[in-house]
Amino acid sequence: MLVEGKSYQTVWMEGSSVFLIQQNLLPFEFKIHECKTYWETCMAITDMVVRGAGAIGAAAGYAMAQAFLLSQSKEKSVLIREAKQDIEHTRPTAKNLFYAVDRVYKAGLVSPENAVMEAHKVALEDMESSRSIGKYGSGLFKSKTNVLTHCNAGWLAFVDYGTALAPVYLAKRQGKEVFVYVDETRPRGQGARLTAWELKNDEIPHVIIPDNAAASLMAQKKIDMVIVGADRIAANGDTANKIGTLGRAILAKEFGIPFYVAAPSSTFDLDCPNGKEIPIEERSQDEVLYQTGPDVNGNLVKVMVTSPGSEALNPAFDVTPAKYITGFITEKGIIKPHFQSIRKMMTPLSL
Ligand code: MRU
Repeated sequence: MLVEGKSYQTVWMEGSSVFLIQQNLLPFEFKIHECKTYWETCMAITDMVVRGAGAIGAAAGYAMAQAFLLSQSKEKSVLIREAKQDIEHTRPTAKNLFYAVDRVYKAGLVSPENAVMEAHKVALEDMESSRSIGKYGSGLFKSKTNVLTHCNAGWLAFVDYGTALAPVYLAKRQGKEVFVYVDETRPRGQGARLTAWELKNDEIPHVIIPDNAAASLMAQKKIDMVIVGADRIAANGDTANKIGTLGRAILAKEFGIPFYVAAPSSTFDLDCPNGKEIPIEERSQDEVLYQTGPDVNGNLVKVMVTSPGSEALNPAFDVTPAKYITGFITEKGIIKPHFQSIRKMMTPLSL
């Protein structure tokens, strides 16, 4: 995507370094972060320099490749196994991370160069899937559509294009009128900060709404459709996504509004039978207790926004049961949230 006229991916690798758009500084600063070792890439994933299922997956794949490059000079198998575990422990929920690490690990057993090639392939496929998701999803848009999206599943959350926002970008390019209601203003503010920044950057009409405004707007018939991303989708269609997604899904059902989840097949986990088995990350209570933003001089500062002395609970994701989901927008088409449709979509065509 273009930022000030220059084309960027969220994640890429040059030589043995991984480069990331520093997402935890957005929307206030746009900077590129370099990770010289697999360990630095792990830290960047844990600290949410890079976040969003596809971008985390690509970064984790590149981290695995970095470990193989390092292992050329060290005791090979022990380092590689330890590195794989380190990368897998960075963030637990997004399936894409495990998908990418597995692929690059297997490729790296042939040679470090093969690991790098596979990591590039994972990143490329992520971009191609997002493009196709945009194509299928844009077909859902009428000449004028008001859509609600929760958190950020735009191009920042993938290598490029995004999932939930890819159909929005394409619908606009097709000349359709699109208006986006943006939420997830708390705890982390990924809607308010990242989605809003992306949409503004692409001149897409939008408004940030407080998380508790969705019901009222739906009741007033201001929202035609909800599209969200996903971090992991179980075999039965139960879907983990940013905390608050479940509430939007229940509301959409109540008000008869279609609720779509846009995700590539790398987010689907056939080994996970249902949503109860999806590991849910619990993040630092500081995300609830504090907010970060620029002071009057433009310096980023962290301020307490809750009553001092109270503790906070901060589950990062929730699970939306498949029954609330109208369909999954995937790179292979729009499918029903049923076990059989998911299995069929995940089966390679040659089988
Ligand atoms: O806490 P984050 O920003 O890492 O949350 C993950 C996500 O980006 C979301 O859940 C997103 O909506 C789906 S991943 C594309």
